Parts: sequence; C-alpha cells; structure tokens
Amino acid sequence: MSATPFNSISFHRWNNPKDLRKKKNGKFLVKFSVKSGNPASQKSVRVGVLGASGYTGSEVIRLLANHPQFGIALLTADRKAGQPISSVFPHLGTQDLPDLIAIKDANFSDVDAVFCCLPHGTTQEIIKGLPRHLKIVDLSADFRLRDISEYEEWYGQPHRAPELQKEAIYGLTEVSKGEIKNARLVANPGCYPTSIQLPLVPLIKANLIEIKNIIIDAKSGVSGAGRSAKENLLFTEVTEGINSYGVTRHRHVPEIEQGLTDAARSKVTVSFTPHLIPMSRGMQSTIYVEMAPGVRIEDLYQQLKLSYEDEQFVAVLDNGVIPRSHSVKGTNYCLINVFPDRIPGRAIIISVIDNLVKGASGQALQNLNLIMGFPENLGLHSLAMFP
Ligand SMILES: NC(=O)c1ccc[n+]([C@@H]2O[C@H](COP(=O)([O-])OP(=O)(O)OC[C@H]3O[C@@H](n4cnc5c(N)ncnc54)[C@H](OP(=O)(O)O)[C@@H]3O)[C@@H](O)[C@H]2O)c1
Repeated sequence: MSATPFNSISFHRWNNPKDLRKKKNGKFLVKFSVKSGNPASQKSVRVGVLGASGYTGSEVIRLLANHPQFGIALLTADRKAGQPISSVFPHLGTQDLPDLIAIKDANFSDVDAVFCCLPHGTTQEIIKGLPRHLKIVDLSADFRLRDISEYEEWYGQPHRAPELQKEAIYGLTEVSKGEIKNARLVANPGCYPTSIQLPLVPLIKANLIEIKNIIIDAKSGVSGAGRSAKENLLFTEVTEGINSYGVTRHRHVPEIEQGLTDAARSKVTVSFTPHLIPMSRGMQSTIYVEMAPGVRIEDLYQQLKLSYEDEQFVAVLDNGVIPRSHSVKGTNYCLINVFPDRIPGRAIIISVIDNLVKGASGQALQNLNLIMGFPENLGLHSLAMFP
C-alpha cells in the first residue's frame, strides 16, 4: 500500500456548497486529505480492477475517484505487477491506492466486484478461476458473442469457458437494463459496437430503416488499441495521417450484427470499416442507411428523441447540429444526430463517444451501478474537457 492515512491532514478550502457544513472564523472548514482517493474501507462496495496498468483499467480508477459507494480494494497487472500505480500512471499519483499485484496473488475474499480490463483470450481463463461470489463486468470481447463458434471463427482460438458464456449478459446499458440488474457476469460492449448500436437499434426496432445496405465508416483515437507497444501505433506511424484497418474482417463485425439482428429479429449484415486517427481518445461512427418506404428524416429523428428522452447518457442533438468528439471527451455520453442524404430515401447518422468511457470503462461503471442496485449515473457526472 502507498500508505498516506486518509484524513491525516485538514485544510480550509472551498468545495461543492452542499459539502460545506462547518464554518469557522467566516471560513468553511472541510476535512481534506493529501491523498484523496477512495480507500475501500470507507465505501460500501469493495472493487477490484484486473488489468489496472492498461488504458481501460486506469480509466476505471479515474472514474471511481468520484464514486461515493465503490472503493478500490485490489489492482492487478501482469508485467507491471509489484509496482505502485503511481509509477505506471503518474496522473493517478494523488490517489490513495493499493499497489499492483499479480492476479495469482490476489485475495478476493474481501472483494465484492471486479472490472476485468484484460486482453481477450486471457480473460476467459481468469474469469473461470474467480470465486462465484464476485460480480464481474468484463471489458474484453470474450463473452460478447452468444454463438461460441462465431467467437472461435472471428478470434481464431477455442473458447475456454463456454459454460460461462451462457450466463453472460451483453451490457449495452440503455438496451438491456432489466437483464443487467440481475446479472453476475456482464459482457461490456466494444467501443465501435456501442457507438453504432445506440443509434441503429431503436430505428431498426421501429422498422424505420432497411436492414440491408447499412454502411458504417468509423474512426477511433489511438487509445482504442490499448497501451502495449506495437509498431503500427508508434507516433510516426499514426500522426498526420489516417489508417484504415481490419478492412472486411474487423472483430467487432459479428458483435454489431448480433445486436442489430436481435433488434430486427432477422439477420442483419453491415459493411464496416474502422480507421485510426491521430488523437488519443474519441470515436465517431458515420452511418449511411436507407429509410423504409414512406419514412421521412423527421421520423428517424423523432424516434431517436423518444427512445432516449429518459436516458441521461444518450442525447439526440438539436436539428442540424453535428456531434463532435470534443463534446464527449472524458464523459460517458453518446451524442447522436441524423441528417437527410442528398440522395432521396437515404439518411446519414453521426454518433460520437469517448472510446475509453462510454466505449469501455464508463459504461462498465454504469453497468456495475445497476448490478449493485445504485442509480446508473453514480460517479459518472463529469462534463467534457474542452478545449
Ligand atoms: N482501449 C479501448 O478503447 C477499449 C475499449 C473497449 C474495450 N476494450 C477491451 O478492454 C480490454 C483492455 O483493454 P486496454 O485497452 O485497457 O488494454 P491494455 O492497455 O493493453 O491493458 C491490458 C491490461 O491487461 C494486463 N494483462 C495483459 N496480459 C495479461 C495476462 N496474461 N494476465 C494478467 N494480466 C494481463 C496488462 O498488464 P501489464 O501492463 O502489466 O502487462 C494491462 O494491465 C481489452 O480486452 C480490450 O479489447 C478496450
């Protein structure tokens, strides 16, 4: 443990007015610790982050700093096991957090829930070995595809925990809330599939668009590929350019088609090409669809508005306003809008998310809130950083 005791030092400082209870000599007095983190001992739910030395793991830690109920009891890593988190991620150095340990050395008896922020393939074996009392939100792709043979085809390896696949709930929060609340194991959706299904599922369910000829052009910031060193992710390879990848065979295709097929109750196929663009985080999906006969662009717009009017994290922008990745940076929001194509009968949908938040760790926290019986927005209130 990095051992600065909580509340060891008090300061006078201004804070959120609701927190200001005591006043002394005209100044508000608020207890404040140098290491402000959120030790598990002070929270009602003890959480472990497996793969805390990666991008999505560090994002879970960042988000949990604002969570009133979840405290971090355990952080794991592989190559970086044994190090303090501050040496791996200096931006987290202000937090009072446990050191990184190997999963084999973890004691889960005092842990209630884990976020699995591990590579696919590895994750199945690890989750299989976890005690049954744990609630699990898995950010990898290992339990997203219901059809095991489809997993094996697209991921090129045998599935090592098919029995667990049966209990996994696909966690696109706005679509499957009821099931997520009762889940033990949630398969958190991929980033591209989140940005694509959120606009398309309601339109398909309402029979407003044709389920053939859906074309998706999507772009992601580089953090989408994780933190481990790869030649194609070097600064020189990525900067000042745009790189298409996974053309015709990106692994998110079967996940996108599974969700859209569920919505349509009939097989949907899509053309999907992702691109890497030179920014750290952020994602845009531009989706070209054919409207059903007699449907107008206003129908699409009104259906999306209606579908998400009670949702905090999905917003349909005002008519004509173009969603921008800047507007969701660091937040759990998905912003959507729909535009008439120049070609009659066609529409263009634009959807933006932060791949590390709504596309990964934010949605994972939203899901764990539901599993634990808390409001889904707990700890997820941050606004975008801009500029
Ligand atoms: N990045 C995104 O935008 C995004 C979005 C949605 C979903 N996802 C998915 O979320 C998962 C994590 O992604 P990421 O971007 O955070 O990856 P990452 O930055 O590469 O981090 C991977 C983490 O897993 C640990 N790890 C690697 N191999 C391990 C092993 N054999 N045993 C135990 N721990 C191991 C690493 O530890 P060391 O650092 O010590 O090696 C690190 O903490 C992936 O499955 C990814 O597909 C990512």
